[in-house]
Amino acid sequence: MPATDTSVTRALHARRSVRAFTDRPVDPALLKEIFAAAQRAPSGGNLQPWQVTVVTGERWAAVKDAVAARIAMGREGYEREYDIYPRGLTEPWEARRFGVGEALYASLGIPREDKAGRIARFVENYRGFGAPVMLFLHTSRIMGPPQWSDMGMWLQSVMLLLVEAGLASCPQECWAMYGRSVRRTLGLDDGQILFTGLAIGYADGDAAVNQWPVPRAPLDEVIDWQGF
Ligand SMILES: Cc1cc2nc3c(=O)[nH]c(=O)nc-3n(C[C@H](O)[C@H](O)[C@H](O)COP(=O)(O)O)c2cc1C
Repeated sequence: MPATDTSVTRALHARRSVRAFTDRPVDPALLKEIFAAAQRAPSGGNLQPWQVTVVTGERWAAVKDAVAARIAMGREGYEREYDIYPRGLTEPWEARRFGVGEALYASLGIPREDKAGRIARFVENYRGFGAPVMLFLHTSRIMGPPQWSDMGMWLQSVMLLLVEAGLASCPQECWAMYGRSVRRTLGLDDGQILFTGLAIGYADGDAAVNQWPVPRAPLDEVIDWQGF
């Protein structure tokens, strides 16, 4: 870590998408503090377009049940809110997406040929990887790309604050594959669009799936310095 290390830097390095949680409950008072701090997230025109529904217990179980019923329908069950990735993803993005998937399954010891194993593991998404709390981030359908980017800033603020509080999370846009069922179960009207879930809880520190190094592109692939 550099000499200028700050708690923000530490939280950025410590945060990762956690895909195995313990069943230790999360104190709602702690979550309230985190959400209050995350309200400081910036947004164009100060619209604060993020709208959030947080569930635990029976309400969380109801979402899992509703989506499990859709999953059982196979492809017919899909209720896509939006294209999660651009259709026909090209390089360098396709390689990054492929690379992280391979590293994830390698940590679990599930080879490419084991399609059933990979699907079974993917479906764990729809149990929130065992997290006791699930947050759903949604907004009005009138919002466009700038406001979606605002939602991302709110989401990262929450994820870093969770790290600071000793908690862990996994953002999960996979819920948008069954958006209507999620929204109906949460009591959201069709004027809302579901962006993503965020599984929240305490990380299972022993799980291999939480320990592999997650690759990042080198800086010169993403930053073009001009005039320095
Ligand atoms: C908006 C968003 C949605 C995501 N959706 C999923 C998801 O549905 N399932 C999953 O396992 N990971 C999901 N991820 C996690 C990414 O795969 C992860 O952030 C990326 O590979 C970098 O890894 P890291 O978060 O551990 O640093 C999502 C991340 C973001 C930001």
